[in-house]
Amino acid sequence: MHNKPVALVTGANKGIGLQIAKDLAGQGFTVLIGSRNLENGHKAAESIGAPARALQLDVTSQDSIAAAAERIRSELGRLDVLVNNAGISHAGKPGRTLEEVGQAGRPSVASLDEVRAVFETNVFGVIAVTQAMLPLLLKAPAGRIVNVSSGAGSLTLNADPANPHRPMFGAVYSPSKTALNAITLAFAIELEPTSIKVNAVCPGFTSTDLNNFEGTGTVEQAARQPVRLALLDENGPTGTFSNASRLLPW
Ligand SMILES: NC(=O)c1ccc[n+]([C@@H]2O[C@H](COP(=O)([O-])OP(=O)(O)OC[C@H]3O[C@@H](n4cnc5c(N)ncnc54)[C@H](OP(=O)(O)O)[C@@H]3O)[C@@H](O)[C@H]2O)c1
Repeated sequence: MHNKPVALVTGANKGIGLQIAKDLAGQGFTVLIGSRNLENGHKAAESIGAPARALQLDVTSQDSIAAAAERIRSELGRLDVLVNNAGISHAGKPGRTLEEVGQAGRPSVASLDEVRAVFETNVFGVIAVTQAMLPLLLKAPAGRIVNVSSGAGSLTLNADPANPHRPMFGAVYSPSKTALNAITLAFAIELEPTSIKVNAVCPGFTSTDLNNFEGTGTVEQAARQPVRLALLDENGPTGTFSNASRLLPW
């Protein structure tokens, strides 16, 4: 068995995931850079150095997920942390502004194909990857699962007419994060009798490809909370949804 703790970060070839991987490598983890395009994964792993290894992982492909789980089992024999970070904000034309994506995602006009594609990655992908990695996580002394969600998925926050961001609550991305929150809670409840902790986190509005680089925060800031939750000790919480400043309402 590998002699250092092992973390898998999905969608770690760029953006917030890459920064989470860098930070976990800095904390002594061997980090697996989940990347659907292996070449991009290799480049990201090289940018981190020795503790990082690329792992082909498309969260929408059961074959890719099964092969990744088998590789971790046979090559490292352990998995301590899973960060479900891979996500998409839409499945339409790339390079659209947030305003354009928001307009196309209104419930009256949203394409059902796009809703399905976003749920496939942001929700079903997380269930599938978590199920595949659970046998290894259950063997770890302190397994941690961190689901990178968004305040955009909070029903409570978006039900508040005073929330200036609620016009962005459409039928595509936001409900996928609401569903991800529900899945987070479901895993946390089932895994309560074990040492595994499962938490959802909003990294904050961050400048990445996901929002056409219109976000205001940096990836360094965004990675801090997911990393904090990946490093929770045995007294830490499970089944929570939080951001940098507080617990968020579901
Ligand atoms: N940026 C924000 O303001 C913000 C706010 C709240 C929450 N988040 C969440 O933070 C997470 C990371 O997003 P980001 O902002 O860093 O965006 P990003 O730069 O676009 O990175 C997204 C990552 O997910 C990967 N990905 C997409 N579909 C995938 C699939 N089917 N299988 C495997 N990987 C896949 C992408 O890979 P490719 O390079 O191959 O496309 C990329 O590595 C997402 O879950 C997002 O919802 C972001």
